[in-house]
Amino acid sequence: MGHFLVNFDTQELETTACAFLILGSGIAGLYTAHTASRFWSDVVVLTKRGIDDTATERAQGGIAAAVGPSDSPALHYEDTLTAGAGLCDAAATRILVTEGPARVEELIRLGARFDRANGLFDLTREGAHTRRRILHAAGDATGAEIQRVLSSAVRENPRVTVLENHFLVDLLVKDDVCWGVLAWDAVREKLRVFRAPVVVLATGGAGQVYRDTTNPGVVTGDGVAAAYRAGAEVMDMEFVQFHPTVLALRGAPRFLISEAVRGEGGILLNSKGERFMLRYHHLGELAPRDVVVRAILQELAAEGGEYVYLSLAHLDPQKVRERFPTITRRLSAYGLDLATDLIPVAPAAHYLMGGVKTGLYGETNLKGLYACGETACAGIHGANRLASNSLLDGLVFGGKIVEHARFYRPEAVETVAVSEGLEPAEGLDVAALRAELKALMQEQVGPVRTAEGLQAVLRRFEEWEYLRRKEARTPELMEFRNMFDVAELIAETALMRTESRGAHLRADYPETRERWKRHIILRRQV
Ligand code: SIN
Repeated sequence: MGHFLVNFDTQELETTACAFLILGSGIAGLYTAHTASRFWSDVVVLTKRGIDDTATERAQGGIAAAVGPSDSPALHYEDTLTAGAGLCDAAATRILVTEGPARVEELIRLGARFDRANGLFDLTREGAHTRRRILHAAGDATGAEIQRVLSSAVRENPRVTVLENHFLVDLLVKDDVCWGVLAWDAVREKLRVFRAPVVVLATGGAGQVYRDTTNPGVVTGDGVAAAYRAGAEVMDMEFVQFHPTVLALRGAPRFLISEAVRGEGGILLNSKGERFMLRYHHLGELAPRDVVVRAILQELAAEGGEYVYLSLAHLDPQKVRERFPTITRRLSAYGLDLATDLIPVAPAAHYLMGGVKTGLYGETNLKGLYACGETACAGIHGANRLASNSLLDGLVFGGKIVEHARFYRPEAVETVAVSEGLEPAEGLDVAALRAELKALMQEQVGPVRTAEGLQAVLRRFEEWEYLRRKEARTPELMEFRNMFDVAELIAETALMRTESRGAHLRADYPETRERWKRHIILRRQV
């Protein structure tokens, strides 16, 4: 794997210096920017497209926090560990659940309007939660509300500058110290250097490496890939969560049908119209996500077909439409009524549990480099993330990074970098490469894996090794290179883990094995 995507000499590039640099403008990036601005006066956020073009903006179900009268951080902790299938980091999870409620309070002070009933939060349930603990906004538009609040908070903040259409190309690292980034200004079509003693990766996950995904088109693994190329450790890359209920209608996008729909009573039916989840788990439709995905796949294998059905027809139709206005509106565009129709659903790639390995303060093995949100892997999601813990993760660990970075004293390193020798990339059909990669990942590295399938994918990737000698001068090729790097990490680690655990299901190793109660951490020799 090559170190850089492009040829450059930093001395020849426009250079901007700032104290605190953040890549990405979802909940993790913007909350970190907001918090950092209390201590630094020149915080810069680079984001690949528009500030609101994020996975956060699409989040529906909500944000989990132990704020209900019958709840506690201890119960939230237990549920997170149970869903995580033996691989959650206890200390990081404790931080998540204990510090989470105060961070949510802060969001509310910033203007977030979570739904209430009789003056109290109208909490919902999702899979594997033993309590109602999910806060939501405008019914099923929680992410849009959080994005609205944080976007306006940073836009109004004179200490934060947001630069849209700036694509992270590579990290600039010397002697294990990160001193800045190389970015592509997509409007002026030029490379730029951003120098900063503190660099935070909050670029989201990598859902676009799969053909069927709930993630927006921007989610191409850029931060994880750049960090790995620069020598950062990555952990748990084999664990990719598939969401069980994603609209499966030919010609329609893979639109998420929130788990909260099942939390409010939605049931799953097979092609014979039978409710099947209670045969697989005592929590029925609210079993952990990996269990629901496996059950759906087993039903499809037994009954044939490409989808099962989600039904709310036994519930009050008016209440359903009021509670889920966004999903109702989106489905009506395809002639479906959420309240009365059988909705065809199937699993699709949703969330990367793995990522850049971080400590309790979002710190990585490279000094000055931090990561949070889906880009990071602090171990709080283990092998299978508990529903609605991801927005909370972005808030809590964004805040921890600021706590740590305040006391970080950067070492002096040489801040000049040169990359040369990459060949011009002419005549590459990037769209075809992207489509093939997504199909390979979907078919062989999806929710069910085998050694044979994984090896076939890795052999194909070896044939693509020549692509790493090409210069990625266009955003399309940069994205493809990042997808390739991340896809290879997922396939390699999925082959190494010879067991089934959480979201990682090996048909040839169906058992969970005690000896695999450990993490796979990879670091590239630089
Ligand atoms: C959903 O609304 O089902 C998504 C929630 C999540 O992924 O945590």
